[in-house]
Amino acid sequence: MSSAGETASGKLDCMSDYEAMPESGAAATGHLHECATERGDPSFAQLKSAGLDSRAVSLIVEATIGARPRIVHWGESLPDSTPEELSLLAFAQSPLGSATRLIHGSLSNEPGTGIATAPGLLVQREGTAWTVDLRVHSVAKEGQATLVITCTDPRCGITATYRFTLCPVTGVLSAQTVVANTGESGLAVEWCAAPVLPVDRRLEQVTGFSGRWAGEFQQETTERFRGTYMRENRAGRTSHDMFPAILLSGPCTSETHGPASAVHLAWSGNARLRIDTAQDGRAFLQAGELLLPGEIALQPGESYASPLLVAAMSESGLGPTSQALHAHVRRNILDPRTNDKPRPVHYNTWEAVYFDHDEARLKDLANRAAEVGAERFVLDDGWFGSRRSDAAGLGDWFVSKDIYPGGLRPLADHVRSLGMEFGLWFEPEMVNPDSDLFRAHPDWVLGGEGIEHVPFRNQLTLDLTKPEVTDYLYRCIADIVEEAQVDYIKWDMNRDTVHPASGERGAMHRQTHAVYALIDALRERFPDLEIESCASGGARADYGVLQHTDRVWTSDNNDALDRQAIQRSASHFLPLSIMGSHVGPRRCHITGRVLSMDMRVASAIVGHMGMELDLEDETAEDRATLAAGIALYKQHRGLLHSGRFHRIAMPEPFNAVSVSAVNGDETIVSCAMLGSLPTSLPPRLPIPGLTPDRRYRVKLVWPQAPEFPGTRSIYEEADLAGEGLQVQGAALGRLGIQLPLMHPATCILLHCKAEH
Ligand code: DGJ
Repeated sequence: MSSAGETASGKLDCMSDYEAMPESGAAATGHLHECATERGDPSFAQLKSAGLDSRAVSLIVEATIGARPRIVHWGESLPDSTPEELSLLAFAQSPLGSATRLIHGSLSNEPGTGIATAPGLLVQREGTAWTVDLRVHSVAKEGQATLVITCTDPRCGITATYRFTLCPVTGVLSAQTVVANTGESGLAVEWCAAPVLPVDRRLEQVTGFSGRWAGEFQQETTERFRGTYMRENRAGRTSHDMFPAILLSGPCTSETHGPASAVHLAWSGNARLRIDTAQDGRAFLQAGELLLPGEIALQPGESYASPLLVAAMSESGLGPTSQALHAHVRRNILDPRTNDKPRPVHYNTWEAVYFDHDEARLKDLANRAAEVGAERFVLDDGWFGSRRSDAAGLGDWFVSKDIYPGGLRPLADHVRSLGMEFGLWFEPEMVNPDSDLFRAHPDWVLGGEGIEHVPFRNQLTLDLTKPEVTDYLYRCIADIVEEAQVDYIKWDMNRDTVHPASGERGAMHRQTHAVYALIDALRERFPDLEIESCASGGARADYGVLQHTDRVWTSDNNDALDRQAIQRSASHFLPLSIMGSHVGPRRCHITGRVLSMDMRVASAIVGHMGMELDLEDETAEDRATLAAGIALYKQHRGLLHSGRFHRIAMPEPFNAVSVSAVNGDETIVSCAMLGSLPTSLPPRLPIPGLTPDRRYRVKLVWPQAPEFPGTRSIYEEADLAGEGLQVQGAALGRLGIQLPLMHPATCILLHCKAEH
């Protein structure tokens, strides 16, 4: 069972203020104040964090001993307002025709509070003990940035611990609920959301993330309505179609203006996100693990920890929420062992050879990859057991001697002799029924007794809750990593797990933790091993898995036009440094679209660049262009992976984004024209993130030899390829630079460097 220790908060450096005011009532008295409704003598607990760009953030929780806890304020700090004032400012009547006292939400809106909205905590003891009413028992801090509010309900035999951390630098909130069974009999937990967040009434728009294989991170925006907006994921992985996140915005919110918040559930299993807008207009957001019936049954003394809710808010639009979340992922989620190293250029074999492995050919591909500048060679699916197609061999993690008579070492050594790291594909959680593993252990898979397995890429999900299964996987993977000196694992997962039962009990919770634990065990044994999370593309790209891995495979779709949209949308939560982004073949295998090397390179640079194509099929000219693009990525990856990311507001058919150095010294801008232009002249491109009163030199750094149709353009006029255009940051930011006429499906990269 999970315990309170499973948080990401332990990684935070703490600098924020903590105040629990007054401390006088610190001991539980058992006397139940109704301060929330009668304004008796409330106590407040507070966290304050710096926040990016001096936008300090604070969280204020009314936490009076013996009373129900309640979030009074989460948002940009109001430094001259006291918690008491903010609480009074929010004092609302009880609506006519309703309860005699206004019933406030608590941190779980649990049934015993009497609030007539969806509970954030549903438990029961054989049909009793569900009327939970949690009252503050203690308030404490852990380090400087974490507030821990412990609440109890002795009648129901429950303790709930709410842990809030405000990242001292980014102001990002991480919050978790841990519920413990303090009673004397078993307690079933049916739903335990992370702390319930009250929704600011200005946030009238809700954006969810839907998608499909090869079309991840599609946004759907709707007006928040009275009733329930709910998204559930039952795929047994983060899923293509329900990335666990929500954006909230006002009707006039843009990238740079207006109230906004971005909320994500750091979890790779089943999930539920909901916003309940009550008839009185108040609204609450809940995010938690979607539990199967009977999945969590706590014995006395056991506890269950919700996944972490990670959220950012801003009064200046959606841009700052992404910037804060990116900084949070880089500072607090990713492992510094690998995060601090420049992200090497990948060469991945999948679209070049698929299952058709041949050692000599792969060595030749490695030579060609090194020639264009690859720094890591990843051998994809097809190197083991009888895996000559996706129908057989999965689970037999032994190098196929027919193809690699000397094992993988000769290929790996060849790769290393070319100065590249060696990466290897695994799909540990899965098995083909046509495999030695399944023949030997048909009982090692998840599924309900008597329930027909649902076919899904000819594979079943192994039951990682069985120690013998994880032992087998650990041994196989560790042996190969050791033998071939593997530097990198592409950890794939190619099916939904729709019957996640182990011994008849729902097991998705335990399965998800078992995957995390297996990855952690391997990383402990091999501290320099890097791991990429892939699931048929981006179906497992969440902050939960990123606490254990180093990169995500954003999508199987390498079509540069589609990637522009996928990556723009993913950027609401994922920083460029972890977004795998590859140059695909000239004719995309998934969409059939033919795109120039210039376009493919430009799109791959704005991410963690790699390539996934048969280099023999590319012309010498395109290979030279690719090599130049890789060199450009290497030159700018420091900025791309550490700077502030901006989605620039541009009319269709443009997609423009930029990354600016935190100190304002430089910016790189990508502007793609995805389709045909409705007007005969293109618009101007504003460049955010520059210091207004500094002068910058603007150059066009990609493509190398652009072909802009029509008469002489700004490219020649301002000598963008030579000396560059020298201009004030304010002019570039506010007015922008005129775009040249561009062909559809082309992309330019501009670089702005401050003059000293
Ligand atoms: C799905 C992944 O998303 C692809 O990149 C590739 O690794 C295949 N699986 C291999 O089976």
